[in-house]
Amino acid sequence: MSKSESKKFAAYPRLNPLGIGKETSVADLIDETFLAYNGGRIREAAKLFTEKMLPKEGYIGMSLTGALTPAGLGKSCLIPLIKAGFVDWIVSTGANLYHDLHYGLDMKLYAGSPFLDDVALHKEGVIRIYDVIFDYNVLLDTDAFVRQVIQGPEFQRIMGSDEFHYLLGKYVSERTRKLGLVDSSVLAAAYECGVPVFTSSPGDSSIGMNVAAMALRGSPLLIDVNRDVNQTAAIVLEAKSSGHKSSVFILGGGSPKNFMLQTEPQIQEVMGIAEKGHDYFLQCTDARPDTGGLSGATPAEAVSWGKVDPDTLPDCVVAYVDSTISLPLLTAYSLARFKPRKLKRLFDRRDELLDKVKSRYLKMGTVSKIRTSRKIAKRSSGVGIRKSGV
Ligand SMILES: NC(=O)c1ccc[n+]([C@@H]2O[C@H](COP(=O)([O-])OP(=O)(O)OC[C@H]3O[C@@H](n4cnc5c(N)ncnc54)[C@H](O)[C@@H]3O)[C@@H](O)[C@H]2O)c1
Repeated sequence: MSKSESKKFAAYPRLNPLGIGKETSVADLIDETFLAYNGGRIREAAKLFTEKMLPKEGYIGMSLTGALTPAGLGKSCLIPLIKAGFVDWIVSTGANLYHDLHYGLDMKLYAGSPFLDDVALHKEGVIRIYDVIFDYNVLLDTDAFVRQVIQGPEFQRIMGSDEFHYLLGKYVSERTRKLGLVDSSVLAAAYECGVPVFTSSPGDSSIGMNVAAMALRGSPLLIDVNRDVNQTAAIVLEAKSSGHKSSVFILGGGSPKNFMLQTEPQIQEVMGIAEKGHDYFLQCTDARPDTGGLSGATPAEAVSWGKVDPDTLPDCVVAYVDSTISLPLLTAYSLARFKPRKLKRLFDRRDELLDKVKSRYLKMGTVSKIRTSRKIAKRSSGVGIRKSGV
C-alpha cells in the first residue's frame, strides 16, 4: 500500500472477515463478521453498549415497544439483562408488561404461522400476534389476575406507574414461586432487582383496561402521570449530577422512546436546570426517519431538542434490525463481554431522587419563560437556509 493510501484510510479498519466455524461464538461472530450495513450497525451497537454505556456504572434506560414479550424475549433477553444489572430503568408499552404476565402465570403461547385463517382462529377462540398464537382464555385469565391483584389494599390510591408495576411484580413473583417457575417474568425480575418500570400510556393496554374497569367498581387506583414524568427526569438528573453517563437503549420507538428521551428537555427546557442531554443513544428499529415521526427520529435530530449531548453524537447508533434478531444478539454479546454489574435498585430510591429534582427545580425554575442555560450562537450560522441556486 502506498504511503498516501495508508494515510487516506488511517481512520478506517480494513475489512478482514473471519471464516465462520462451528466453534464461533456469538460475540466473535458479531465482532468479526458483522462488518457492514445493518450488520455493521449491530457490531457498533454491541461495542457501544459494552465499551461506553455499561462501564463506570453508567445509567441505562431501556424502552420497549413492539410485541417483544409475546415472542419470548422477556425470558430470553430482558430478564438476563435485568439480573446482570445491565438495565437500570425501563419504559415499556403496557402491552409488553401485560403479555409478560402470561409467562409469569405459566400460560402457554405457541409458535404458529402468519398465514393462518383468522376467521377460523376467531371461531376457535385463538388469538394471533403475527406468528404467535394462544387461547382466548389466556387473555381472560390474565385479566382476572390483574383485577384480583389490584383489589388489594396497597392498590387503593394514586401512584406512579413504577410503583404500580413494582406492586404487580411482587404478586407475579409470589405466583411464580408457588408455580415453581424460575426467571419467567420481566415484571417479577424487575421487582426483585429494584428496577423501576414505567409506562408512557397507562390506559393503552389490557392492564390499563382492567384498571379502568375496576374504577367503575369504585377503585381509587389511578396512575399519576405527572409523578412518572418527574420521576424519570429525576433518574436522569441523578445519573448526570453524580458524574455518571446516562444512556438510552431503545427497542422499536413509539411513545416509550419519547418518554425516555423527554427527560432531558424536562430537566433543561421546562425545569431550567443546566444539562446537556443523554450521553449515548442506541436504537434498534424498523422505523424510518423520513416520515417525521418520533419512532424513526435519529439521534442527530434528538440533539437539536437537547435530548442527546452533541459531543457524544458520533458514538450513537441506530440499527435498522427487527428486535427479535437484534436483542438476542446484543444480550448474548454483552453477557459474554461484560461482567455482571451491581444492581442500582433505583426503585428503592424513588422518593429521595424525586426530592432532589424538586429542590433543584424550585431553586432554578420559573413559571414565566425559562432563562435557558443552553449556549445558543448569537449570529446565525446559516444552518437550514437554502443556498441560492440549489
Ligand atoms: N393487549 C394489549 O395490552 C395491547 C396489545 C398490543 C398493543 N397495545 C398497545 O398499543 C400501543 C402500541 O404498541 P406497539 O408496541 O405495538 O407499538 P407500535 O406498533 O407503535 O411500535 C412502536 C415502534 O416500534 C417499531 N417496532 C415494532 N416492532 C418492532 C420490531 N420487532 N423490531 C423493530 N422495531 C419494531 C415500530 O415500527 C414503531 O416504530 C401501546 O400503547 C401498547 O400498550 C396493547
